[in-house]
Amino acid sequence: MANLLQTKPLEMLLSEASDTGEHSLKRVLGPINLIMLGVGAIIGAGIFVLTGSAAARYAGPGIVISYVLAGIACAFAGLCYAEFASLIPIAGSAYTYGYATLGEIFAWIIGWDLILEYAFGAATVASGWSSTLIAFLQDYGINLPPQICDVPGAVWVMYDGRWSPITTLAGKGIDLASLPHATAHFNLLAFLAITVVTIILVVGIEESANFNTAIVFVKLFAVLTFIAVAGSYVWSHKAQAAVNLTPFIPVNYGWSGVVRAAGVVFFAYIGFDAVSTAAQEAKNPQRDMPIGILGSLVICTVLYILVSFLLTGTVHYSRLNVGAPVSLAIRETGVKWGSYVVNAGALAGLSTVMLVMLLGQSRVFYSMSRDGLLWKWAGDIHPRFRTPWKSSIVVGVFVAIFASLVPIGILGELVSIGTLLAFVIVCAGIWILRVRKPELHRPFKTPLVPFVPIMGIVVSLLMMVFLPWETWLRMVVWLIIGMVIYFTYGRHHSRVQAAAAAERAANGAD
Ligand code: ALA
Repeated sequence: MANLLQTKPLEMLLSEASDTGEHSLKRVLGPINLIMLGVGAIIGAGIFVLTGSAAARYAGPGIVISYVLAGIACAFAGLCYAEFASLIPIAGSAYTYGYATLGEIFAWIIGWDLILEYAFGAATVASGWSSTLIAFLQDYGINLPPQICDVPGAVWVMYDGRWSPITTLAGKGIDLASLPHATAHFNLLAFLAITVVTIILVVGIEESANFNTAIVFVKLFAVLTFIAVAGSYVWSHKAQAAVNLTPFIPVNYGWSGVVRAAGVVFFAYIGFDAVSTAAQEAKNPQRDMPIGILGSLVICTVLYILVSFLLTGTVHYSRLNVGAPVSLAIRETGVKWGSYVVNAGALAGLSTVMLVMLLGQSRVFYSMSRDGLLWKWAGDIHPRFRTPWKSSIVVGVFVAIFASLVPIGILGELVSIGTLLAFVIVCAGIWILRVRKPELHRPFKTPLVPFVPIMGIVVSLLMMVFLPWETWLRMVVWLIIGMVIYFTYGRHHSRVQAAAAAERAANGAD
């Protein structure tokens, strides 16, 4: 049993972190790139899509408080990620931190669990990207054939000059049977989106970071445009805004609704942790990792609070349960061009979320393979591009097929539970390492240990408890599949186990 809890020695980790040469990842990212990677991964479907339904269904204008609560919860975990990423700047993120502190079996569980966050997260966002693009084109009168717009078997109907999934029109008193129908075969748009992002990732980390930075500017411009336009609208329509914002927490929703909405909009913050997977590609990870992780989190928290306040100030929350609430609100102000900017920003926003999620996934596989827990090919670095190209391609193909064939609505919650489990392990790891190795030089120190890690664990567990039991069941099934792979392959090829066995043998021979 003891060797299942074998930890990876910190000396081994730190020597890997200083690897250079053509078989290592390329260290090119500076603090701005890292903040941009964080913002690239964070701002996406959460703010552009989920905010409206969460306000309409659970919290009303109190959605602003939900964003504050979810932001505080992420700040606890973010501080712990920042300490680890500067102390152990290795591409494996939570997987590696688990290996260093809790032992191999926990590392495996967390590595396998991160697939839920990164790979399934990218697939979920690819599907959201395809719906956003379809709606965007329809605004210009372009209707794509529904056969290539959704997963096999999904039924679409033509209503009001637009093809839409039948599910989005149900319950609106429309005679659906009388409308033209079509059945989808394949979500080609989601497939193509993942394919393009994968090609960029294979070609190079600099190319990926530059693409990300350029696109992040587009989405930041969209968010700032919304804040400026809606801000001046609310300012000049104070009486109407006051009506929309009163009562701030609707009586029938109450504080429980606000907390529930915090669990939903938590999705909007997912991604800041993905910055830590780029640790081996950062020029000065000790200094810059905390800047990237915490900087992106702070920027996005401020933007989210402003956007959710102005959204519910401009449009009454009861009207926000729509696919593109931010775009609806900017149209309400009468600034028509604003809605094009916001739609373009949403499309751009979702594409960088896919990019950084897939980047994170391939780096976690790379680290697991280097440790012997996954097949060797997954750790191969392309001699010219210096990227883990085989991992990137395999992950890309898997995610593209998944996003284009499997209905992934339910998987959004799996993404949240997977992320929260990673947060629990990272927070626990910080605390454990402070007790076991207090002497280590920590370039960034999480403040108020153990308070901050404990709060991170408690808040993450609470959010997990509020998720449906089916989500728990799916996570358990997923982890069992992972265990089978570990016990049939990983355990027998583990480099850390081999090194420990060699050391034991040497000591025995003395
Ligand atoms: N935070 C990311 C989004 O909102 C996952 O799309």
